[in-house]
Amino acid sequence: KEIAFIFDLDGVIVDTAKYHFLAWRNLAQSLGFEFTEEHNELLKGVSRVRSLEILLNIGNVTISDEEKETLLIAKNTEYLGYVNKMTSDEILPGINNLLNYLDDNNIKYALGSASKNAPLILEKVGLLNRFTALVDGNDVSKAKPDPEVFLIGAKKLNMKPENCIVVEDAIAGVEAANAANMVSIGIGDAEFLNEATHVLKDTSGFTAEFLKKIMN
Ligand code: G6P
Ligand code: MG
Repeated sequence: KEIAFIFDLDGVIVDTAKYHFLAWRNLAQSLGFEFTEEHNELLKGVSRVRSLEILLNIGNVTISDEEKETLLIAKNTEYLGYVNKMTSDEILPGINNLLNYLDDNNIKYALGSASKNAPLILEKVGLLNRFTALVDGNDVSKAKPDPEVFLIGAKKLNMKPENCIVVEDAIAGVEAANAANMVSIGIGDAEFLNEATHVLKDTSGFTAEFLKKIMN
């Protein structure tokens, strides 16, 4: 049976969560409150605009829409400063092997990310031209856990949703994959990601044995 993969970006292909964290933490500091790594967990898989809403809630800060716009630009400018320094060294363990395996076996793959910076990040780490299709934050109107991003991905790959395997580190992303009627591989803590079809502690778990197990 023909299958395809759809990859989330942040936390699956690269660890950009640490850069998002630095930028959000500085923004919180400028508003006079602390933003912790635990808080940052709440922003994984969440759009930029929604992330700011959550952060302002944490700090109990109310500001105008205009100020929000300014903060979003400042946050992204700082974030892009980190992204611009990224290299292929930052591709997470096991991902290069996995993509090579998929290429060797003529298995197509797409990107399904909430990030509007996804194309730039892929370019920085040298993976932009590897994907058959890209779906990012510029293409979707409904954020994960809505299945839209993955359904567009399946369409672009010309695949039925049930033949797509989604790789995700965020709970909202696993939920989106399930809602799309796709197989999901959760990357991270099995307790959090208990709705995923399969769970791997980290991306180094993409061994030949694991792939063989899930492919049939
Ligand atoms: C991913 C990340 C989120 C981030 C979102 C938007 O889903 O997990 O933490 O907020 O993308 O990213 P962007 O690059 O558009 O700000
Ligand atoms: Mg992610």
